[in-house]
Amino acid sequence: MRTLIKHVLARTEPTDTLTVSGWVRTRRDSKGFSFIELNDGSCLGNLQIVADAGIPGYEDISKMATGASITVTGKLIPSPAQGQDWEMQAEEIRLIGEVPEDYPLQKKGHTSEFLRSIAHLRPRTNLYGAAFRIRSRMAFAIHRFFQERDFVYVHTPIVTASDCEGAGEMFRVTTLPDSQISKDTEDFFGKRAYLTVSGQLEGETFACALSNIYTFGPTFRAENSNTSRHAAEFWMVEPEMAFCDLAGDMDCAEAMIKFLVSEALADPDLSIFEKFIDKALRARLEHVVEKPFQRITYTDAVKLLESSGKEFQYPVKYGLNLQSEHERWLTEEYFKQPTTVYNYPKEIKPFYMRLNEDGKTVTAMDLLVPGIGEIIGGSQREERYDVLLENFKHHNIDPESYAWYADLRKYGTVPHAGFGLGFERLLMFITGIQNIRDVIPFPRTPGHCEF
Ligand code: 4AD
Ligand code: MG
Repeated sequence: MRTLIKHVLARTEPTDTLTVSGWVRTRRDSKGFSFIELNDGSCLGNLQIVADAGIPGYEDISKMATGASITVTGKLIPSPAQGQDWEMQAEEIRLIGEVPEDYPLQKKGHTSEFLRSIAHLRPRTNLYGAAFRIRSRMAFAIHRFFQERDFVYVHTPIVTASDCEGAGEMFRVTTLPDSQISKDTEDFFGKRAYLTVSGQLEGETFACALSNIYTFGPTFRAENSNTSRHAAEFWMVEPEMAFCDLAGDMDCAEAMIKFLVSEALADPDLSIFEKFIDKALRARLEHVVEKPFQRITYTDAVKLLESSGKEFQYPVKYGLNLQSEHERWLTEEYFKQPTTVYNYPKEIKPFYMRLNEDGKTVTAMDLLVPGIGEIIGGSQREERYDVLLENFKHHNIDPESYAWYADLRKYGTVPHAGFGLGFERLLMFITGIQNIRDVIPFPRTPGHCEF
């Protein structure tokens, strides 16, 4: 039976014979033996193999070049080399898959742009292997956070007819031939359908039955913003809580971020990001866990920005959206800590947010983090039937299509609130990776849908 290298490296005692498999990172030949650094993707570390000439399979040693796959059987012995406890004295070494000379990952130090063009091979590098292992563990940590708090995981639809955010940034799903593309009633679903931008609306229906729920799945946005923080396909975590107001919503968002950052701090793969991406990463994340987050209303945030004396590219004015540069100034330069901005003007937010007593603002909240800006967007929802119907009018929403959504307010309505965490933005935050394309296995952005 094959043993993963992760478990081999964690051994505290020498072993009887065992078998490992993986891809050769490097090989050095000496007179009478060879050293191989073997990696199987189970952890950051390589296992050093010592193969003496003459063992079965050694005749293929010259083909065991960087990138080739091999299987080795042997015994662990204490390693004289620095930085590793064990090496494996091979008793048998078998070539599984050869690699021709054009293997693109020969050298170290490829640019992230180049590695994106070979996204099918980049998980074999140390950095991306670590990034995608962390992605896996963070996804699991999200489930743990909510499951431990009795939230029910709901699978909301990926194909939908509703535009939750009302921003018109939806990808259409159709089976109509090109010549009949606008005959909606003849389409597969008898009406226009899209890929979902958010599972929130369907999530709300389940919160209004099961109390605390969350969704975690892919979402799609056809926004043509070619930034380092936007992808056309990304994953969102969306909890929704019944009998909860904006303050409770912000508490949950902050607790979740602190939990996930603590998990990341304990992750064995974090060290590579500290080494190659951001030397101050660990200290920054520890600070996030230890210090309380900040909260400020949109109105006060605008005042702060106006009096900051800082030259921004985009204007700051009550009633305008905060741009990423504004968000980053608040969280990086002013508060120096994750910061939640809440109570935004109703004009710049979607129809479902609850109107405040002032009649001007809604119970929206955005959680901003240093280095990125918005990582979470959420709100308390409008639970008053009449007010929601008014909102439909202001936002030009057909009340017929959203009758099911309004029904929640008609039949036993409850105050409820929730938020959406951009999963990739969380990964960027905890790894320090600057481009969203580098935390998604196969990123989809304007003009790019390879693999
Ligand atoms: O602020 P947003 O648009 O909020 C919603 O979709 C709500 N329905 C969520 C809710 O209340 N249940 O998106 C939520 C988060 C953003 O804060 C951001 O982190 C991420 O999703 N996000 C994106 N991430 C990557 N690429 C994009 N194009 C993104 N758009 C939003
Ligand atoms: Mg938002």
